[in-house]
Amino acid sequence: MKYFITTYGCQMNVHESEKIAGMLVDIGYESASSVEDADVIVFNTCCIRDTAEKRAYGNIGALKSLKRANPDKIIAVVGCMTQQKGGAEALSLKFPFVDIILGTNSLDKLPILVQDKRSRRASIAVSEDPTVDLGLELPIYRTSGTNAWINIMYGCNNFCTYCIVPYVRGRERSRSISDVIRDVKQVLSEGYKEITLLGQNVDSYGNDLKDGTSFAALLKEISSLPGKFRLRFMTSHPKDFSREVVDVIAASRNICHNIHLPIQSGSNEILRRMNRKYTVEQYLEIVDYIKEKMPDVGITSDIMIGFPGETEEDFLSTCDLVRKVRFSNAFTFVYSPRKGTPAANMEQIPADIKKSRITRLVNLQNDITKELSDEYLGKVYEILVEDVNPKYPGTVCGRTDSGRLVTIKGETSLIGSFIDVKITKSRSASLFGEILSKGE
Ligand code: 5AD
Ligand code: SF4
Repeated sequence: MKYFITTYGCQMNVHESEKIAGMLVDIGYESASSVEDADVIVFNTCCIRDTAEKRAYGNIGALKSLKRANPDKIIAVVGCMTQQKGGAEALSLKFPFVDIILGTNSLDKLPILVQDKRSRRASIAVSEDPTVDLGLELPIYRTSGTNAWINIMYGCNNFCTYCIVPYVRGRERSRSISDVIRDVKQVLSEGYKEITLLGQNVDSYGNDLKDGTSFAALLKEISSLPGKFRLRFMTSHPKDFSREVVDVIAASRNICHNIHLPIQSGSNEILRRMNRKYTVEQYLEIVDYIKEKMPDVGITSDIMIGFPGETEEDFLSTCDLVRKVRFSNAFTFVYSPRKGTPAANMEQIPADIKKSRITRLVNLQNDITKELSDEYLGKVYEILVEDVNPKYPGTVCGRTDSGRLVTIKGETSLIGSFIDVKITKSRSASLFGEILSKGE
C-alpha cells in the first residue's frame, strides 16, 4: 500500500507532512511516486494566501476522475484550509469525492480513518478550537535530506490584521526545552547535519511557559551540544527579535548567520494598520545591530505589497527600505484578503496597481540579490551539501552559512558533508563554485 502527499505553504507544513508520512509508514504504507500509484492521497493545505488556496482547490478538483475510476483510492484533505470557519464544510460540498477531511488539530486520527476505509462516507474531524497540537510523540518520516525540522512552538498571538494564522492555528504554545533538546539530540544521533527550529514567532518562545525560558536560552543550550552541525530557525518577528538573541548567535560556532526577519512594509502608517507593532526605524536599528555583530550575515525577509490603503508613497517607502537593508533574498507577496481578518473589510487596492507594484519590487530585489551575489565571487565558503541540483546533471548543491545556494560539480556521495568551496560564477540568486577541500 502506498501514499502520496502534496504539501502547500510554509516549512511548518513541510514538517507536518513528515509527521503525516510517519503515521502512514507506521501502519504499513510506503511512499508512492505519483497520485496514480498511490492508495492514499493526502493534500496538506495552506490558507495563508489566495494563491496557495487556489492551487490546492485546482489539484483536489483534478482528482475527481481518478477517484471515479478507482473508488478504492482514499483522498484526504488536511491542514489549514479545513480549519477556517466553515472551511471543512465548504470542502466537502465542493469535493464530495473526498473521503477524509481533518483539521490541523486532529491529524493524529488519520491512520484510524484510513484503516477504516470501508466506510465510504466522508469523515470530517475539525474542531473549532485549534489549540490541540499534532501529537508530539507522533512518528516522523523525515524527507528533507540533511536538514531536520523541529517545532519549538505552535500558534501565534500577534493578529497582524492581514493574517489568518492565529485563527487557524490558535494561540502560542511552546514546547518545553527538555522536549526540544530530546528531539535535537535524537536527530543529531541519526546523523542530521542541520537543524531548523520552527515556530510562527520563535522570538516569543517560552513566554507562555512562565518559567523564565527564552529563545536565547534555548539557542544557547542547543548550540553547546557536541558535534558539527548547523542550527537555523524561522520565523522571527522584528518586534520581539532581541539583541540578546543576536549576541548568542554571534558568539556561537554553529548558529547560522542567516536571519529571516519579515518587514512586510517600509511605511510606518501601513505597519501600524497591519498591527505589526514596530516602526521602520526600530527595524533598521535591529538590522544595524545584526550587521555590526555579524558582517557576513544574510538577512532575508517577507515583503507584502497592496495592503488596503497602500499609497504610491507608502510603496516607495518600502522600496527605500529594501535599498537600505539590502536583503540577500526576499519573499514578495501580493496582499490577498483572508475572510475573517480585519484587513479583508478595509478598502482594497485595484489589481492593476498591485501588479505594477509587485513587478517593480521584484525587479528591485532581483537587482540587489544579483549585486550581493557578485560580492561572493572569488571567496571561499564552507557549504553543507544538501542534494543534487536537478537543473545541472553531475552537480550537487548546498548552502553557505548565510543561506546562499551554491552549485558545484560533484558526486552524490558528497551529500551530507561540509566542504570548502570557491565561488567562481554568480547568476542572479544562484552561485556556482569548485571544491577546495572535503571537510567532515
Ligand atoms: N496576503 C498576502 N501575503 C500574506 N502573508 C500573510 N498573510 C498574507 C495575506 N493575506 C505573507 C506575509 C507572511 C508570509 C508568511 O505570508 O508576508 O510573512
Ligand atoms: Fe501571521 Fe503576524 Fe502571526 Fe506572522 S506574526 S503568523 S504574520 S499574525
